[in-house]
Amino acid sequence: MTHSITLTKPDDWHLHFRDGAALQTVVPHTARQFSRAIVMPNLSPPVTNVDAALAYRHRILSALNAESRFDPLMTLYLTDDMDPNEINKAKASGHIPAAKLYPAGATTNSAHGVTNIKNVYGILERMQTMGMVLCVHGEVTATDIDIFDREAAFIDQVLSPLLQDFPKLKVVFEHITTTQAAQFVASGPAQLAATITPQHLLYNRNEIFRGGIRPHFYCLPILKREPHRLSLLNAAASGSGKFFLGTDSAPHTSERKETSCGCAGCYSGFHALELYATAFESVGKLHQLEGFASFFGADFYGLPRNKETITLLNQSLQIPDSFAYLEDELIPLASGETLNWSLQSPNPL
Ligand code: NCD
Ligand code: ZN
Repeated sequence: MTHSITLTKPDDWHLHFRDGAALQTVVPHTARQFSRAIVMPNLSPPVTNVDAALAYRHRILSALNAESRFDPLMTLYLTDDMDPNEINKAKASGHIPAAKLYPAGATTNSAHGVTNIKNVYGILERMQTMGMVLCVHGEVTATDIDIFDREAAFIDQVLSPLLQDFPKLKVVFEHITTTQAAQFVASGPAQLAATITPQHLLYNRNEIFRGGIRPHFYCLPILKREPHRLSLLNAAASGSGKFFLGTDSAPHTSERKETSCGCAGCYSGFHALELYATAFESVGKLHQLEGFASFFGADFYGLPRNKETITLLNQSLQIPDSFAYLEDELIPLASGETLNWSLQSPNPL
């Protein structure tokens, strides 16, 4: 019986911090678990230029103690009319390793996203030259495509041609949810990798409707059928450097989740590692967790691996029912449930 596992401190290669007072709640949670995080730019208005990204980074750091070594890695939100010179400026800043492609209308605050991939070909050309990573929300938005098929359609309609047109552009296919995506990435070129969330490793789509409609399990891309979940677990725990950790932790107030037209997003920033450990343990692959959580993302981004370590104890963690958040509540993924792993505390922030 394992009683603890010590890992190189992991990084989160995709999450949402929001802005303003929200940062006080969510940034310390993530900094406890992770050394670095790729911070999504889908604020309102979106983070579309370097000055806005660096100012946002500063606000994130202000939510932490001065001695914190947490490093927020910023992203630019691609728009149809972005100036390619912004890419050079981003690279030169040293704090913006990636830009994010949201197909317009795909998810929360994506209305300003790209309406046709060809509109940003000039930007992608520049990113390829400058060695900047492209993070993609991989779903088509056409309303005649079923919500469960949007990721698979994206592979055929957008991602395949994109990789052919930009063979040196590094692309992260984010929060993959299907067997098709896992296979496409595993057999794809070295320029392509994927992140996988805890909710897609732990739950299938039944969870959204178990005993009634459960909005805290609604995220985008939406949870899929069980065979897809098993494919993702297999990919995440395969030891392949093409799959790495990205929580897609996406906080919303309970008021905005529990309503007639609720927001998409699961909050896992507080307990991500415990959730991932639970998923890996379920298939007897805890020994593969460190590569997925702490090595492969850094390697893909060409960044150094972290030096600090964290320890997960084989000790139960009761996930809180809620956190105080923006004069409302934030309900974490699997709130109230008990996991068999807990991050040793206190940890250096
Ligand atoms: C994210 C959000 O709320 O910003 N929601 C989600 O369900 N994942 C947006 C996103 O990453 O799609
Ligand atoms: Zn996201």
